[in-house]
Amino acid sequence: MKLALCLLVLAGAVKADERTQRYTDNESVTLWANKIGPYENPQETYSYYTLPFCRLNADKWQSKWAGLGEALEGNSLVKSDYGISFKHDVEKALNCAVKLDKRSLDMFQYAVSNHYWFNLVLDELPMWAMVGEVRESKLGNHSGDDEKYIFTHKHFSIAYNGDRIIEVNLTNDNPALLKLNQQLEWTYSVKWHPTSKKFSQRFNRYLDQDFFEHQIHWFSIFNSFMMVIFLVGLVGLILMRTLKSDFHKYSKHLDEEESLGEGQEDTGWKQVQGDVFRFPPYYPLFCGLIGTGIQLILMVYCTTILSIIGTLYIGRGAVSSTAVVVYALSSFAAGYVSGQFYVQSKGNSWIKTMMFTACGYSGFCVLVTMSLNLVAVSYSSLAAIPFGTMVILLLIWLFVSFPLVLFGTIVGRNLARPYQPPSRIALIPRQIPDKRWYLNFSILIPLGGLLPFGSIFIEMYFIFTSFWNYKFYYVYGFILLVFSIMLIVTSCVSIVITYFLLNAEDYRWPWTVFWSSASISGYVFLYAIYFFMAKTKMYGLFQTCFYFGQTLMMCVGLGIICGAIGYLGARVFVWRIFRSVKSD
Ligand SMILES: *[C@@H]1O[C@H](CO)[C@@H](O)[C@H](O)[C@H]1NC(C)=O
Ligand SMILES: *[C@@H]1O[C@H](CO)[C@@H](O)[C@H](O)[C@H]1NC(C)=O
Ligand SMILES: *[C@@H]1O[C@H](CO)[C@@H](O)[C@H](O)[C@H]1NC(C)=O
Repeated sequence: MKLALCLLVLAGAVKADERTQRYTDNESVTLWANKIGPYENPQETYSYYTLPFCRLNADKWQSKWAGLGEALEGNSLVKSDYGISFKHDVEKALNCAVKLDKRSLDMFQYAVSNHYWFNLVLDELPMWAMVGEVRESKLGNHSGDDEKYIFTHKHFSIAYNGDRIIEVNLTNDNPALLKLNQQLEWTYSVKWHPTSKKFSQRFNRYLDQDFFEHQIHWFSIFNSFMMVIFLVGLVGLILMRTLKSDFHKYSKHLDEEESLGEGQEDTGWKQVQGDVFRFPPYYPLFCGLIGTGIQLILMVYCTTILSIIGTLYIGRGAVSSTAVVVYALSSFAAGYVSGQFYVQSKGNSWIKTMMFTACGYSGFCVLVTMSLNLVAVSYSSLAAIPFGTMVILLLIWLFVSFPLVLFGTIVGRNLARPYQPPSRIALIPRQIPDKRWYLNFSILIPLGGLLPFGSIFIEMYFIFTSFWNYKFYYVYGFILLVFSIMLIVTSCVSIVITYFLLNAEDYRWPWTVFWSSASISGYVFLYAIYFFMAKTKMYGLFQTCFYFGQTLMMCVGLGIICGAIGYLGARVFVWRIFRSVKSD
């Protein structure tokens, strides 16, 4: 059952490439109408036929469902009324002629004045064009009297190589003034050109190489890389030196104590050895977050690697489908990690832990998505997730994700080694002395996210720009690199923070380190606000909700990832130093 479902989803994801995409002469090539929307608001999309364009009769109506991700990304392909046949030129053909009534006029005027664009798809190649244009009125200088024109002629210039379609250009023409009772003649023409370009390279023209492979991008990667080397070196050096002198002090102290019977007051991280291995409060939640963090890290790595291998950015929604499937499958890792961590505390709320793992982040995403869906439905936008897709997602969660978390938890519980920290946990918790001002949580926590944010900052710009500005993001190798750099920087910073905290004899490091690493998402969210204000022209309730809703989901995910990796890094460090001091 599970397997069948996965295969079904995977099949949906790859179906777009499954068709042969080879044509014989005069074979009809379907032009699919996808969506329209205001140019400034990339997520605010509506079905193409929301506007009163000419359309096929109801009996020939046909839509295309090409997978889960396609629906998630707000696409809905409907067969258009353009008759295009392979290698068959069309001089000028009439689709339909209509007189503009009041309702159509209002709709077209609204669309033109809001800079609506539309998206058509021919043989999986997307085309974009504007619906119309606004011109300054020639009569008089009255402002607000702009004339709105709508393009009524579409010219398709199509290049073919052998039996394959390589390139499509769409040009608008024949602007007609929008006024009541105006006769609109919707026409189109098609011109076929032979070309020697290869089919495998036909997508390259959609990739903005000047933008993504600009020197700045390479430079920023190089920069981050240097930062990592510097940081790792610095952390290593400082810790080695300080720890060495600490170890030295402690061992000397031990000798003194033996000879003199009484030593001076001990200070530093060694004092908390009876408390440092205590389980943090809210341990089930904590384990759930660590498990989810590992799951998300796996998801990012698998999805990016699959995207690189399969050039998934070409298919509409293929990356989203892959992410959903990988997320569901990696639930096992989440259950395994959280179960293993939890069982060490010998607590008996493992069911609670499992529920946090299985429902925490997924539940949050569902909640946000549902709220966004309400907005989208009220706008009758394409961005609303269709009911069928929602059912499929629910089934995936119910029959793949949840059982895998359960299974992972059981395996993790049974394979876990007993908890044997390097030093025993004292019965009575030690009192935490007053700390220096800069070791307060309100300072440490924002500090922890600063450097990791610095390492991903430039890549954020590229990701945001492509996601919100109609660019195909295709440099997944960069993501992989930057993501790894971020993980390394985060663990280095969390180790430093742990060291300072323990030195101040504060043993509450697990949550502190988690939050200080997770604080990167606060910076990303602030950056998103800046990007919204300064770099985009989005407007309206719909787009604002979608922008911030989706950014919020991303930021929370990123926070969990960094929190988990920060904790794991600090944990290795803590184990190490206390083990060495014990063996001294
Ligand atoms: C394609 O159709 C055109 C006009 O309908 C016709 O002239 C031409 O011979 C056809 N070509 C083939 C290969 O059938
Ligand atoms: C329109 O502008 C021209 C100069 O730009 C001016 O001479 C003319 O008076 C204006 N007409 C009206 C109706 O305001
Ligand atoms: C499409 O437009 C581009 C850029 O203007 C041009 O280089 C290319 O030859 C055009 N292709 C076709 C099939 O018209």
